[in-house]
Amino acid sequence: MLPFLLGLFLLSLCSTAAQDEAHKRGHVSVVVLGGTGDLARKYLWQGFFELYANKISSGHSFSFYGGGLSPANKSTPVLYEILKALNCSKDVPKERIQKQLKQEGLVEAGRLFYLSVPAFAYAEIADRINSSCRPPKGAWLRVVLEKPFGHDFRSAQELATKLGTSLKDEEMYRIDHYLGKQVVSNILQFRMQNKKHLDSMWNKYFIERVEIVLKETLDVKGRIAFYDQYGVIRDVLQNHLTEVMTLLTMRLPLNLNNSQEVLTNKLNIFTSLLPLSKNQAVIGQYQTYQKEVQQELNKTKDHVSLTPTFAAVLAHIDETQYEDVPILMISGKQLDERVGYARILFKDNVFCLQNKNSVHCKPKQIIFYFGHGSLKYPAILVSKIFSNRLLLTASGKK
Ligand SMILES: *[C@@H]1O[C@H](CO)[C@@H](O)[C@H](O)[C@H]1NC(C)=O
Ligand SMILES: *[C@@H]1O[C@H](CO)[C@@H](O)[C@H](O)[C@H]1NC(C)=O
Ligand SMILES: *[C@@H]1O[C@H](CO)[C@@H](O)[C@H](O)[C@H]1NC(C)=O
Ligand SMILES: *[C@@H]1O[C@H](CO)[C@@H](O)[C@H](O)[C@H]1NC(C)=O
Ligand SMILES: *[C@@H]1O[C@H](CO)[C@@H](O)[C@H](O)[C@H]1NC(C)=O
Repeated sequence: MLPFLLGLFLLSLCSTAAQDEAHKRGHVSVVVLGGTGDLARKYLWQGFFELYANKISSGHSFSFYGGGLSPANKSTPVLYEILKALNCSKDVPKERIQKQLKQEGLVEAGRLFYLSVPAFAYAEIADRINSSCRPPKGAWLRVVLEKPFGHDFRSAQELATKLGTSLKDEEMYRIDHYLGKQVVSNILQFRMQNKKHLDSMWNKYFIERVEIVLKETLDVKGRIAFYDQYGVIRDVLQNHLTEVMTLLTMRLPLNLNNSQEVLTNKLNIFTSLLPLSKNQAVIGQYQTYQKEVQQELNKTKDHVSLTPTFAAVLAHIDETQYEDVPILMISGKQLDERVGYARILFKDNVFCLQNKNSVHCKPKQIIFYFGHGSLKYPAILVSKIFSNRLLLTASGKK
């Protein structure tokens, strides 16, 4: 049995104008399960705070609840410390936030549950939400689930079936938070904006290879009980990096706002991925991993874990457009640098047939720089030869 809704914290609106608006648009309750966990601490509370702050003009009022496994008298102070560290958006001075929510007269618009808990707890929580936490008629229910969605095809299917008995499909939001990264979320937009120029080069005649790289310097100490069951392929390759790969290679939708069209085009790329053979992947482990596993899992010295902490995979897409174009996906823990990027490297011979020493013979590339590394900020970089032709989005830099 999972203790439910133990920590509790409310943010409320106090401006009268906003309050009036809120009457029209209704009240939204946000419940974060795993409210004191790593993800919640690092991203969720700050994100929700900004949602709250920015959405005042949208007219919704919000209350936020944190739920976790620890008893309320223990978790409330922890939650309070997390919330105290939140950064106030400059538009909304903290004085404007009252601790008590005046709910009289507010109509509930919806309820959002964010499950920041291990996947094995999803089904039971979803069942609880269905049996006792559904909002009154007329209000919506949304349940957000983070990856990993199971640990293999079968467990993912089982989980989907179980969740389906408690929640309707439109009530479930399966989230890959990596897609929210600024530059990742700009890939399709960039391709759209530059369609005229990119269309003729976005194929096997021009592309030498595609690289999608996420290198981390951190190890997994302290998280081994979780990590050892998943490893780098399940943790980042099959979700984050594969999603980036589809954004780079999928057929552009006619309208970016048409989520059905985006989904269909993504699925087309997935189904065109050729199966991998053994010689298309290299896996590895950082040196001290075995020792850390033995320590954290209380195993003896002869215990061997085969979980990879590094993987490099060579994929191909079975479409004429990308025939034989190598697509490399690389990720690992405890590597030489922390960096995330996707790079489209173009063939040299297209541009530099005559003079190998000319400026035209430098590598031609487009780099979607997700963050960290030497640049330190997210950006879209293009080789000089393209720079007067390609339009860079707001976040983009040369
Ligand atoms: C929290 O409450 C439980 C049960 O009511 C009690 O046993 C425990 O001592 C309390 N802990 C703190 C830190 O107050
Ligand atoms: C708030 O800002 C400070 C200083 O810029 C930073 O150190 C801290 O991590 C931020 N807190 C959150 C929750 O983002
Ligand atoms: C939710 O619970 C109700 C009542 O227990 C049940 O009839 C229904 O099938 C469950 N699932 C969904 C998706 O509503
Ligand atoms: C897509 O949605 C955005 C934001 O709502 C809007 O600014 C844009 O005009 C829409 N584009 C199309 C093609 O409908
Ligand atoms: C390993 O042993 C320590 C100390 O005895 C204990 O606190 C910890 O929960 C154990 N870990 C596992 C995974 O069994």
